[in-house]
Amino acid sequence: MNNLVIPLTDIRSIIPPISGDDSSGSLKDTRGRVMSDLRISVTDRCNFRCVYCMPKTVFGRDYPFLPHGDLLSFEEIFRIARLFVERGVSKIRLTGGEPLLRRNIEKLVEMLATLPGIELTLTTNGSLLRKKAQSLHDAGLQRVTVSLDALDDATFRKMNDVDFPVSQVLDGIAAAEAAGLAPVKVNMVVKRGTNDHAILQMARHFKGSVTKPGHIVRFIEYMDVGSSNGWKLDEVLSSSAVVGLINNEMPLEAIGPNYPGEVAERWRYQDGSGEIGVISSVTQAFCSSCTRARLSTEGKLYTCLFAQSGHDLRALLRAGRSDTEISGALGAIWGVRSDRYSEIRTAETAAQKKIEMSYIGG
Ligand code: GTP
Ligand code: 5AD
Ligand code: SF4
Ligand code: SF4
Repeated sequence: MNNLVIPLTDIRSIIPPISGDDSSGSLKDTRGRVMSDLRISVTDRCNFRCVYCMPKTVFGRDYPFLPHGDLLSFEEIFRIARLFVERGVSKIRLTGGEPLLRRNIEKLVEMLATLPGIELTLTTNGSLLRKKAQSLHDAGLQRVTVSLDALDDATFRKMNDVDFPVSQVLDGIAAAEAAGLAPVKVNMVVKRGTNDHAILQMARHFKGSVTKPGHIVRFIEYMDVGSSNGWKLDEVLSSSAVVGLINNEMPLEAIGPNYPGEVAERWRYQDGSGEIGVISSVTQAFCSSCTRARLSTEGKLYTCLFAQSGHDLRALLRAGRSDTEISGALGAIWGVRSDRYSEIRTAETAAQKKIEMSYIGG
């Protein structure tokens, strides 16, 4: 176990299933939010050290990443995912750390792709995408989201802090497009004073033409996830400022969500050449429609990105619990969920010890 201090929830309190959960059907939490989206972190490791996520001062050479034996096997992940799907999940996103670092990740994709009716996608830093885009597509991956924080090499290298060149990520995006994983979503975390000067260049680069829509860039407000990034409110650039900046040069108009609970607010270029998104967890919380459950690399279930503790599903798996019991536990956990961190964020909550984004994924 690493020193993130993730207290265990006593699983005995959720077994046997709380009465009222019949281990079937879709799940609603205490605010009526349906569980429909599962994010699975397949590794807590990453080959980048993005300043807002895994600062080198904390994630150094001797950082205690999870030992291999603690990781869920692909069979264990598949079993949990299958139970989630039976309880209403229709979208699965693989994340990390950097998910493409997990050996044979294509095998897991292939397994998950057999689950009925799910959308299967993955968030990556793009560094290994040129090599893996085709095999991921062939294994059944439908889409990919690539994190990319600047197009000029100097700023990009400063953000990833491992001197990784931007050209290789752009090659990865091109490979994803060629392999049929398009449209690619490109996530840019905006940290004021570090990469906000790169916003317009990013928008211009990915803006399509009227005949060929570009990839979809989403500008993300820098968040106080984890306890390592030294987050300060004055380093957040609001989404409204981002939209204002782009709109001045390339007029935009608001468009509705693709699906209820979509995290990104969508804006379309008035000339018909595609769209951008903004994700505003800090200035416009979207907790009221949050449908996301998160499974960590070693099998803990978190019901919020800003949680301080998770529920140990691996213990249930390895104790030989039945599908009915585990499904009952999922129902019980979701049924009592009341998370709304972004709605109640204060300077005090921002300073609290929370799970790291590199551990639980984006
Ligand atoms: P698609 O709409 O399918 O493309 O996915 P998405 O927008 O739900 O997923 P993605 O993982 O790309 O989310 C983009 C970013 O939004 C993440 O990297 C996080 O920074 C942020 N985000 C996603 N989900 C949440 C959430 O539940 N709470 C908060 N506060 N931020 C989130
Ligand atoms: N604020 C906002 N987004 C973050 N991500 C990681 N750390 C943060 C943060 N502090 C996002 C990255 C990446 C995904 C894995 O998580 O953009 O796309
Ligand atoms: Fe950067 Fe993603 Fe790695 Fe975090 S997990 S350091 S955001 S590439
Ligand atoms: Fe969901 Fe928690 Fe994010 Fe709110 S802060 S949207 S409850 S993950």
